[in-house]
Amino acid sequence: MVKTTLKFNTAKSEHIAAYAARVNDEYEKGEVGYYHLPSLSASLLPSISELNKSLGSGIDTVVLVGVGGSALGVRAIEFMLPECLSKELKIIDNLDEVSIRSALEGVNFNSTLFIISSKSGTTLETITIFKYILNKFKPNSLKDNFIFITDKGTPLDDLASKNGARVFFIPHNVGGRFSVLSAIGLVPLGLCGVDIAGLLEGAKACAKRYIDDGDMSLIAKAHHYATHRHARINVIFSYSDRFEKFNEWYVQLWAESLGKRQGHKRVGLTPVGLIGSKDQHSFLQLIMDGAKDKSVTFLRIKEHIKHGLSAPNVNIDGLRLEDLAQSDFAGNFSVGELLNLQADATTMALVQEGLSVDEIELDRLDEWHIGWLIYYYELLTSATGILLGINPYDQPAVEIGKRILRLLAQKRNLS
Ligand code: PA5
Repeated sequence: MVKTTLKFNTAKSEHIAAYAARVNDEYEKGEVGYYHLPSLSASLLPSISELNKSLGSGIDTVVLVGVGGSALGVRAIEFMLPECLSKELKIIDNLDEVSIRSALEGVNFNSTLFIISSKSGTTLETITIFKYILNKFKPNSLKDNFIFITDKGTPLDDLASKNGARVFFIPHNVGGRFSVLSAIGLVPLGLCGVDIAGLLEGAKACAKRYIDDGDMSLIAKAHHYATHRHARINVIFSYSDRFEKFNEWYVQLWAESLGKRQGHKRVGLTPVGLIGSKDQHSFLQLIMDGAKDKSVTFLRIKEHIKHGLSAPNVNIDGLRLEDLAQSDFAGNFSVGELLNLQADATTMALVQEGLSVDEIELDRLDEWHIGWLIYYYELLTSATGILLGINPYDQPAVEIGKRILRLLAQKRNLS
């Protein structure tokens, strides 16, 4: 179960009904593919499970090469579920020589599966890292230790097909940062033992709540964000270390989707990801006393247990220390309960300051709840994009830098 609470006044439903209808239209038209991944991706499950069987115990490591939407979602999920992984998963998503070298250090080529993921099949970082891997291991063939995830007909698809390597496809109409519930996320995570059917089930439940059952609270939140006169920064304050990479995924989704030009106007909402309680000792001061230009979503877990295990809570058993008596008031709680109490206290403080605050509470951190959360943020991004009157699915501005890079490289090659 997921409990969501908006602690700010929302627009009347007759004012936002038209926007809800636009989200429904987008959903029904089918042009934006991610909406339907929770059902469509179910068709991938048998082939992923077959592939897993055929790999057998010979493969103990998966190296995923990809950037942006081809990596961040996978990293977010594996970071929330580390105890579920049956294979070591290494993700290389940056052109940093030290990181690339250290990720590949000690990798035994024969017991490793390399997944090269790029929707466009042309991303310079991904192709460069792929070339580095080829150079390092000099494989005779790409058939056994490589699989590719891309759009049909891309240069990467051509290369893989010519080499008889296995390819999984991303539907054409699913964009990079909205693709974690497609082959992009399901293949690496499924091969590493994550319950990917559970992810899809959670996402389906979220779609049911906000699309089929017409819960308007998500549109109301998007409306609040898009129309707020001052709060142009949307903070997610996530109360668990396990949300660190989820925050990064959110930052990419929100920033690349919602920072756009609208004619001569520049539009954009700025994402910030914080971790509670540690960032209470850092960023919170700015939120409380700085400019009132932020909304804050508290993301929390009701039960802080290890996935699937009812592990005992981390407890301090009411231990009292004479010299530290000022903290005794917190002595009867488990560490998880205390963390949630801190989230409650910070929430109340921000509400008292008149900031726009809302809460998302997951019963547990498992595949179902993660699928739900991912889909919720994708929907919220779509709805906010519609309300801002921009296209959240493209990224025209990043292309300019890529063109300049090509020119710079050509110039350097000539000199
Ligand atoms: O969201 C996006 O579209 C981008 O962030 C892409 O995911 C990123 O640029 C990587 O692109 P590709 O998967 O084509 O290599």
